[in-house]
Amino acid sequence: MDEMTLKIEHLCSGFFTERGYVPAVDDVSLLIPRGHVVGIVGESGCGKSMIARSVMGLLKYPGRITGGSIRLDGRELTGLTDRELQPIRGREMAMIFQEPMTSLNPVIPVGKQMREALLLHEDISRSAAKAEVIRMLSHVGVSEPEKRYNAYPHELSGGLRQRVMIAMAMICKPKLLIADEPTTALDVTIEAQILRLIRDLSRETGMSVLLISHNLGVIAQMCDTVYVMYAGKIVEQADALTLFDSYAHPYTRGLMDSVVRLDATPRRLPAIGGVVPNLLRLPAGCAFAPRCPHAVERCQAERPALEELSPGHWCRCFERGRE
Ligand SMILES: Nc1ncnc2c1ncn2[C@@H]1O[C@H](COP(=O)(O)OP(=O)(O)O)[C@@H](O)[C@H]1O
Ligand SMILES: [Mg+2]
Repeated sequence: MDEMTLKIEHLCSGFFTERGYVPAVDDVSLLIPRGHVVGIVGESGCGKSMIARSVMGLLKYPGRITGGSIRLDGRELTGLTDRELQPIRGREMAMIFQEPMTSLNPVIPVGKQMREALLLHEDISRSAAKAEVIRMLSHVGVSEPEKRYNAYPHELSGGLRQRVMIAMAMICKPKLLIADEPTTALDVTIEAQILRLIRDLSRETGMSVLLISHNLGVIAQMCDTVYVMYAGKIVEQADALTLFDSYAHPYTRGLMDSVVRLDATPRRLPAIGGVVPNLLRLPAGCAFAPRCPHAVERCQAERPALEELSPGHWCRCFERGRE
């Protein structure tokens, strides 16, 4: 067993469009040690879901991995065919999405869907599979699991559907769970419950988690390590405590300012002026420079590299730490 569940090195993936190549993920490296919860945070469009889909092998044409390496428990995933990936998806890595309806089949009762997923990957009897599904539903906090087993997705509330999707992802005990904005569609109370559930499951089972969110508040409660992403690149990374105590990138600062008290509404304020850049026409210098309150001439002309500020704390900025 590799001590790293997931090892992404220099990953590049993007879209081949009529107007040119869109570099959605640009030279991203990311590590998830066994049992850790690792977060990716950044505004919409920065490439978070592209990383998730690259790992899962779910990139659709015209999207493609164009470089780098993705290793799950030591095994290289890039270059595998869909057929080779099929048994790895579900069994070794599973993904949950913002909207459960996109991954639940609307015309099959939820329990039966979970049972089929289990039967596909494990050599057990139908009745044993059903018992395991009911156990898992109960484990993720679905009350009356025997009754819910026969419910159709539309008969469940948003929070329950999300629990079912987590149970579905967990049923084959994957090594890695990728949760892409898993609570964005839920209200604050349910969100807190679902996040706690994911964290507890990870602690109990040693499962590694990649948690993706545009909300730094969500990431803060959950993660051991945080990667901040902007325009396809990692701009800062650190363990969660370091990041929150001594973040150094002006973009991270902007995200911090966007998080207001969790019980207040609205929950996010537009604290960073301007918009994310068009990936087809990235600036010559730092991609964040046009929106950055600390940008100097050099930032417009040159692209900063990721530099290690202290052990494990990396930042991509010439003017880092300026207030
Ligand atoms: N089919 C597509 N063709 C070209 N660009 C795309 C396509 N789908 C997504 N993109 C671009 O890829 C970038 C990354 O998208 P995504 O990973 O979904 O962002 P996030 O999950 O961080 O919101 C975005 O800038 C988006 O505009
Ligand atoms: Mg996304």
